[in-house]
Amino acid sequence: MQSWFPFVPESASTVSGEVEALYFYIWGVTAFFVLLISIVLIYFVIRYRRRNAFEIPRPIEGSTKLETLWSVIPLLIAMTIFFWGAKVYFAQYRPAKNAIEVYVVGKQWMWKFQHSTGQREINELHVPVGRKVKLIMATEDVIHDLFVPAFRTKIDVVPGKYTTEWFEATKPGRYHFFCAEYCGMNHSGMGGYVVVMEPAEYENWLSGNAGQASPAAAGRGLYESLGCASCHGANAEGGRGPALLGLYGSKVVLNNNQTVTGDESYLRESILNPQAKIATGFGPIMPSFQGQLSEEQLLQVVAYLKSLSTAKPEVPTAKPAVAASPGAAPKPSASPK
Ligand code: CUA
Repeated sequence: MQSWFPFVPESASTVSGEVEALYFYIWGVTAFFVLLISIVLIYFVIRYRRRNAFEIPRPIEGSTKLETLWSVIPLLIAMTIFFWGAKVYFAQYRPAKNAIEVYVVGKQWMWKFQHSTGQREINELHVPVGRKVKLIMATEDVIHDLFVPAFRTKIDVVPGKYTTEWFEATKPGRYHFFCAEYCGMNHSGMGGYVVVMEPAEYENWLSGNAGQASPAAAGRGLYESLGCASCHGANAEGGRGPALLGLYGSKVVLNNNQTVTGDESYLRESILNPQAKIATGFGPIMPSFQGQLSEEQLLQVVAYLKSLSTAKPEVPTAKPAVAASPGAAPKPSASPK
């Protein structure tokens, strides 16, 4: 499991080839100038050495032409690196559409994964080849960082917020991942494998591990047990809070006339710190749920709120069906091959 170049990990995602190409381009530019400057330096040292003790060199006034040239050429080269880098960065960090969603919680010293169909894994993540996989990531304690060298993806999980990341694997196989942010005694052991499978094999794996409540179903349970419904019905039945149906992904107008996107981070903040961004037309009456929910439970509530959005065309009272059966969860709709 090595790439063509012995110092580079295997290349197994849609972005890894381009990251590698950019890396070797920068490496090539560096090597070229190191060689050029060294050779010219040695040549000048020999060519213009002092030949007798009383030699006085001819004064040189400088050359505008030369100075312009050695400013403009490096600028152009630096710009190619900048624009190419920006292109790769945007490709990698723009949120993916139509992705399989996996919830990730890092904690000292393990990675916990939960699929939107309910399957849980620790230090191992099964995904299909040729599908985008979006990771919605949180940490229960300190900063960790999920690094999959073969995919060239690497992102921190940070206390108090969600980070997201996506990848699309191009080759079945087992790919080592690591924690790439020092996080205490067993940091070096905080890793595992991404197992990339053929779509049919993946379906098989999913159904073989069924029977666990989906995050959305667990979130619905929490939503009920915490009494959220008394204020927040799906269609604003409670009357005291905004409607939750369709909230995820919508534009939310706040009481200071700012507009925010109702994404995972907004939902999280509104549960833990409800006064931070109040939807227009509502009062600052919601209590904070800080300390009442673990990161995993919080992700489950967020998953439930998201399911209200994807289930928009359905009758909102038919929610248990969405939550309970794995068949209703988003399925890989088309095989890429
Ligand atoms: Cu977790 Cu280092």
